[in-house]
Amino acid sequence: MKEVLYNGLKFVPYIDRETIAKRVKELANEITRDCKDKNPLFICVLNGAFAFASDLFRAIDMDAEITFIRLKSYEGTGTTGNVKQIQGLSEDIKDRTVIVVEDIVDTGFTMKRLIADLQEKQPADIKVASLLFKPESLKCDLNIDYVGFSIPTKFIIGYGLDIDEQARNLADIYVINEDAK
Ligand code: IMP
Ligand code: MG
Repeated sequence: MKEVLYNGLKFVPYIDRETIAKRVKELANEITRDCKDKNPLFICVLNGAFAFASDLFRAIDMDAEITFIRLKSYEGTGTTGNVKQIQGLSEDIKDRTVIVVEDIVDTGFTMKRLIADLQEKQPADIKVASLLFKPESLKCDLNIDYVGFSIPTKFIIGYGLDIDEQARNLADIYVINEDAK
């Protein structure tokens, strides 16, 4: 693996595809164990979580369903603090176990807002699975049930994560190289 350039910024390899695959499998096993017989509905938060959700869901060993919602809160490498729901949920989730699948929790505002919206629909339980989590960036009270990797507050791309919609196709995760001149 070598460094990549986007928007004039340099990114270096951070988490390789084998490490991601191993961790995703572990999370899938945990979720399968915790939610057996509940026929949970996975809610993939587009766009960023598509890669994670696809790998996670295929590693789930029980009856389960998946659906997709679309939110947007980021522009460039900073959060806008303003979460837009672009495509909502069409399924009835009343009395169901739902598992929200996110690529990354940064300030937590996106997830907080989404959980509040879902809560109004009276599901039996809401669990959150996030591939990545930046604990030092968290600005609200939020419980994440399944975390793939806790990472420092640095901008990352790849495996679904973007910089202005680019780089989602990278199979590995890269971190911004702040030492770059
Ligand atoms: P939050 O509302 O600040 O927690 O932001 C969550 C959303 O911002 C995620 O769903 C991502 O789409 C995006 N995001 C946060 N950190 C990064 C990053 O390092 N790279 C790419 N997108 C990010
Ligand atoms: Mg996202």
